[in-house]
Amino acid sequence: MAERDVLPVNEVYHPGIGNYRQIYRESLEKVDSFWERHAQILDWHKRWDTVLDSSNPPFYRWFVNGKLNVSYNALDRHVMHGRRNKAAYIWVGEDGTEKIVTYDGLFRRVNNLAQALKNLGISRGDRIIIYLPMILEAPVAMLAAARIGAVFSFVFAGFGEGALSERIEDSKARMVITADGAFRNGKVVELKKIVDEALEKTSSVGTVLVVKRTGTAIQMQEGRDIWMHDVTEDASAFVQPEWMDSNDPLYILYTSGTTGKPKGAVHGNGGYSVWIANTLKWAFDPHEDDRWWCAADIGWVTGHSYIVFAPLFLGLTSTMYEGAITYPAPDRLWEIVERYRVNLLYTSPTAIRTLIRFGEKYPRMHDLSSLRVLGTVGEPINPAAWKWYYENIGRSNCPIIDTYWQTETGGFMIAPSMALGLPPLKPGSATFPMPGVEPVILDENGHELGAGEKGYIAYRRPWPGMFLTLNNDPERFRKAYFEKYPGMYYCGDYAIRDADGYYWLLGRADEVLKVSGHRLGTIEIEDALISSKEVAEAAVFGKPDTVKGEVIVAFVVLKDEYRGDTQVVSSLRKRIREELGPIYVPEEIHVVKTLPKTRSGKIMRRVVKAVALNQLPGDISTLENSASVDEIREAIEAFSKEAEG
Ligand code: WTA
Repeated sequence: MAERDVLPVNEVYHPGIGNYRQIYRESLEKVDSFWERHAQILDWHKRWDTVLDSSNPPFYRWFVNGKLNVSYNALDRHVMHGRRNKAAYIWVGEDGTEKIVTYDGLFRRVNNLAQALKNLGISRGDRIIIYLPMILEAPVAMLAAARIGAVFSFVFAGFGEGALSERIEDSKARMVITADGAFRNGKVVELKKIVDEALEKTSSVGTVLVVKRTGTAIQMQEGRDIWMHDVTEDASAFVQPEWMDSNDPLYILYTSGTTGKPKGAVHGNGGYSVWIANTLKWAFDPHEDDRWWCAADIGWVTGHSYIVFAPLFLGLTSTMYEGAITYPAPDRLWEIVERYRVNLLYTSPTAIRTLIRFGEKYPRMHDLSSLRVLGTVGEPINPAAWKWYYENIGRSNCPIIDTYWQTETGGFMIAPSMALGLPPLKPGSATFPMPGVEPVILDENGHELGAGEKGYIAYRRPWPGMFLTLNNDPERFRKAYFEKYPGMYYCGDYAIRDADGYYWLLGRADEVLKVSGHRLGTIEIEDALISSKEVAEAAVFGKPDTVKGEVIVAFVVLKDEYRGDTQVVSSLRKRIREELGPIYVPEEIHVVKTLPKTRSGKIMRRVVKAVALNQLPGDISTLENSASVDEIREAIEAFSKEAEG
């Protein structure tokens, strides 16, 4: 269990928790008036009739019949009211190149692309896939889609062709926006080639818009592929924003769940936008002249909400970085903080732990005095990493905003609130819920647990940022999230609430992994292994890792004809890399003759994991083949010997 020491309260930035408690109480007691007020963080074309419609749970609807446009809120209103020449993004390429785009510049680029999309026949309600690296065209494409009411689904550029084609298929996308390639760690990832392969398996896509980024030689398919620069030449385009219903979908973001098929979380226009704008403001308290840097990838929800939409709604200046944080050297993050005088830095525990390994020398090379607030997201932060971040990066002078949330929640759920009243921080705790969020810790049977007892975290009521449904699968939406505890949202995590009311998030309670903060499904990896020609059976699980949080370990049983084939492991790695993407490649693949199974033939992943991690496997009375347990032990021993040697 994490240490529970309380840090000294910083006079300047810890105004005390007083306001927070009052605002929090109001948010639960006066839902309508509270959100009436906070929805005004956006400009609405038409006011809503009802703040919250709970008549058809779990399909809660916020700001019913309200109309707005997300790109209007991100751009037009700033251009018209005083932020026209303000930088929206300071973009830094992996090679160190810098591009600054103002709100007016972004507005024009978004209008140009929106016009181009319309010319290419994309209209309100159409689905488009965005498969781009961390370049300015990524926010431009998202905002252009939002402007014309097209629903986009961003696919992280680290995903492989299998993952991409599955998302194209499920979303029935008509267009893919991609780039020739992406720079990563000084190398080029050939994105367009991956798109070409993915499109061989699907049929809905008629147009591929290609951004020229790396200059890599690519095949342009006649009649389908178009260079972005050829269709965005009209620098004076203005496209009237589509006034979207608050509950019309804005985007679909696929995320891993407990089955092999990723879940397409659908976020709407109104509630989602109100939620992310307010939560960013509450948690980080950004000021007009601040420079905000969310160092995530736009392909994940953190990037959607807190690189693109929320900072633009608030009219902030964001830093955006193209590449790997250790390229070309481990001081990349600190160098950018110094060069651009970043005030608010938001990154992941894995990034912090990765940089800890290189030592204090690197942050010391730079002047980090511009930093005022630090944030983390994506996985539990261990107290040691928290303290390193606090002392070495924040110079013991910046609060750490540990934000706990999920793709499905749209924005922060539990996090300290700079703007409302910061509590004394406890390293490793995300502290208290955001206004409007009512968490509860339950046991398996739905009984509420007391202080200090570990259980499942659920939420008693909807909040505006909650996803609307799962694409094509409202039944799975209901089952996966609202069935375990009727009337509540169940999110799949373990947590504790301590005697002071602080929440401690303890990781996933299901088959989902968090590898370097990336959310991956064990079953997706098992499916990819089993669908390879060599593998008969597979069991995949996460092994604790001091840097990445977890790493992937796979045990496989080969088909007879591949037994003894020494190339199998490397060909399986290659297959997973191509199919799912490099982040899915297991750290360890062990070949065994059998896997522990129940009498009915079900692989006991729990037992495989426990034995491999040298823990007690629990009840194995239903185990059919106990010899398999010894085999796992032997495989692990042989592996550690090899690693030592
Ligand atoms: C985990 C990322 C502890 C959690 C925004 C959750 C965290 C999953 C934290 C969602 C945190 C995220 N402390 N755990 N501050 N933030 N998680 O959908 O297990 O990629 O369920 O969203 O990440 O991952 P997702």
